[in-house]
Amino acid sequence: MSSNHSTLKHFLNTQDWDRDDLDALLSQAVWFKRHKLSDSLKGKSIALVFFNPSMRTRTSFELGAFHLGGHAIVLQPGKDAWPIEFELGRVMDGEAEEHIAEVATVLGRYVDLIGVRAFPKFVDWSIDRKDHVLRSFARYSTVPVINMETITHPCQELAHILALREHFQTDDLRGKKYVLTWVYHPKALNTAVANSALTIATRMGMDVTLLCPTSDYVLDRRYMQWAEGNVAESGGSFTVSHDIESAYRGADVVYAKSWGALPFFGNWDAEKPIRDQYRHFIVDEAKMAMTHHGVFSHCLPLRRNIKATDAVMDSPQCIAIDEAENRLHVQKAIMAALASQ
Ligand code: CP
Repeated sequence: MSSNHSTLKHFLNTQDWDRDDLDALLSQAVWFKRHKLSDSLKGKSIALVFFNPSMRTRTSFELGAFHLGGHAIVLQPGKDAWPIEFELGRVMDGEAEEHIAEVATVLGRYVDLIGVRAFPKFVDWSIDRKDHVLRSFARYSTVPVINMETITHPCQELAHILALREHFQTDDLRGKKYVLTWVYHPKALNTAVANSALTIATRMGMDVTLLCPTSDYVLDRRYMQWAEGNVAESGGSFTVSHDIESAYRGADVVYAKSWGALPFFGNWDAEKPIRDQYRHFIVDEAKMAMTHHGVFSHCLPLRRNIKATDAVMDSPQCIAIDEAENRLHVQKAIMAALASQ
């Protein structure tokens, strides 16, 4: 257990990390990809706290800890662990059996790292955008906390960048034309991966276009501002487009994600007829043919023939599986770095 609470380094957002430190994580991930086993977490452990379902995140963190000689414990509050209260001063006469003040502190007495997955509640974005669950773990924890997807998905960001570096056979992605495209999904989904893609693509100096149906689908101002600040520093560019053809034309990278329109947050029945008009944002062969031999990816899970066609998913241009594999390698790098503080 780490003892110096105030100077603890967490992995909550890539934007909190220096570019050199992100590059070091990516280099270490490459090393772990070539060297499966190490003793970086020997005798150490991580609690993986899941408030929402997962396939990739849970598997890759559990397995990653095992590869590093450590141990992972999965906890699902409200299912196999007690429901948790996050508000200070609350009279706890509801469902919650214990407070985050005790949960995070007790876990810190047992384990060396804590991972947290906590999606928005999808009722009030002004509340969800505070990332209260993750921030509360970080506030009370005496050990480093890793964001396993809340309102951003920084582990996915590193896996995505590693897959792009592998595909283009260079660590320098500056000048690549990168399209983050909204795609249809029958339900309003989390903006986390979109926020993250925008953040990391601009950080890496790419020429980034956010393609979405209307201005209602533009992302939260925090991530728009991060993107603008990042391109000012990195020398890339950032534009918003609602025009499919001009966005795809000449693209090197197409990254797809569906998300709910923030002005309709919590009022999803009103958003549904709007989103239903934009099924044609699906990534298909005709759109990919407009790119510059562009590569396609998605964080997964993905509904085939809703978000992207079978032909795109099964094409050599699709690197979504490589990106998913890279979750294992980058998370091993993150766990190893944070546990050695
Ligand atoms: N991409 C991703 O985080 O996948 P899971 O939801 O399956 O963990």
